[in-house]
Amino acid sequence: MKAIVTGATGAIGMEIARALAEKGHDLILACRSEKRGDDVGRMIEMHYGIVPEIVSLDLSDPESVRRAAERIARCNPDILINNAGVMNPRFRIDDNGVEDTLNVNYHNTRLLSELLLPAINPGGCIVFTTSATRYWYPLQKLSENISSEEFGRLKTYALSKKLITRFAASLADDPSVKGRHIRVNCTDPGIVDTPMLSMGRWFDPLTDIFFRPFCLKPATAARTAIKAAESDLSGYIFLSPCGKLSNRK
Ligand SMILES: NC(=O)c1ccc[n+]([C@@H]2O[C@H](COP(=O)([O-])OP(=O)(O)OC[C@H]3O[C@@H](n4cnc5c(N)ncnc54)[C@H](OP(=O)(O)O)[C@@H]3O)[C@@H](O)[C@H]2O)c1
Repeated sequence: MKAIVTGATGAIGMEIARALAEKGHDLILACRSEKRGDDVGRMIEMHYGIVPEIVSLDLSDPESVRRAAERIARCNPDILINNAGVMNPRFRIDDNGVEDTLNVNYHNTRLLSELLLPAINPGGCIVFTTSATRYWYPLQKLSENISSEEFGRLKTYALSKKLITRFAASLADDPSVKGRHIRVNCTDPGIVDTPMLSMGRWFDPLTDIFFRPFCLKPATAARTAIKAAESDLSGYIFLSPCGKLSNRK
């Protein structure tokens, strides 16, 4: 089978790519930096004898998403794992005034999935990466963009994860998706020892000593994503570390 992993240069993404390669899947690694993507590709080739295709993908930019989707669609993939994500410390908008964390984690992840959906083979699956922070964002305050006054690093990230989780639920229920037996699930990695935990604040060194050792390892989070992809179920959130299910409705 052919699997796409976004953000395969990141801590969890690299472990997802490894796990898929170990299972003998052909890989497309959709990465913001092609050079770093090539490095991951070489590592996969060396360890598993599979030569991944590297596709440039910048989820901050819808044009990059369209170009990547056009290229990937030709390969008729079976599995799409939307792993790439950011938690921007500062407010940044694109030319259309849309905030960047929302663009990467929600708008353009959604765009990529919608563009690739027709190309995904029947019986395939799409996995979205959510986060426990989705519970922090009040339902009644949901909007698809945020102003500089409303922006907060964790708050905006939580909103982006809430929005993508809701989108995943609606996609799983879509009759045309169900009709093609395409499964749509979320993976919730838990709190994982990756660069994303660094807040760029004075307390980071303390966090590194007292908190990181108790966090999950990226390989554990990757196993949850693989469970979400391999399950016969659709419309569920798979939670690390045990892969327990919670119906997201
Ligand atoms: N770590 C946690 O505790 C935790 C908890 C819950 C959910 N998650 C989610 O798990 C996923 C993986 O995160 P991680 O912890 O492995 O963090 P990470 O090591 O920082 O990896 C993030 C990945 O996303 C990519 N990315 C960022 N911005 C991008 C953009 N504009 N276009 C394309 N790719 C982009 C990064 O690419 P570069 O290499 O180019 O930067 C990197 O490959 C994310 O969706 C995150 O929200 C993480």
